[in-house]
Amino acid sequence: MKRTEFVRMVTLGAGYLAVAGCMSACKNKAAKTEEPVKASAEPKAGSVVGFTIDLNDPQYADLDKPGAYVYVNKLIIARTNEGNLVAFGKKCTHQGGPLAYNAESGLFQCSWHGSQFSGKGEVHRGPAKVNLKAHNVAKEASTLTITPKG
Ligand code: FES
Repeated sequence: MKRTEFVRMVTLGAGYLAVAGCMSACKNKAAKTEEPVKASAEPKAGSVVGFTIDLNDPQYADLDKPGAYVYVNKLIIARTNEGNLVAFGKKCTHQGGPLAYNAESGLFQCSWHGSQFSGKGEVHRGPAKVNLKAHNVAKEASTLTITPKG
């Protein structure tokens, strides 16, 4: 085998390994994602806020209707019955149960022990004693921008 052939084979082999390694890493990263997120900008590491979502995207289009809500990253984003767009951490402040917005009652509810929170995130009924942490939601045209409050 000539030296140039040997160098070419080694280079191709290294390139193959690099591509295969990247594909494997990307596949594993996607598999660990809790839920698909089509936010236009990924949040910074360790952050759950600081992103935008496009209301033209079918999975978010319902947010134009009172009573609708979606989960994005670690947040629940809802349009309350009063028409306000709000974003809170999606876990209950009691023991971390999942929250959902109940359009019938106009309250955020936890399915674990029944805590309820108002559309402003205030405890309506326990056992939770701590209000939900609210984030800023700004709407410009069809874009929602969610940023940390305070
Ligand atoms: S975790 Fe939500 S009420 Fe207990």
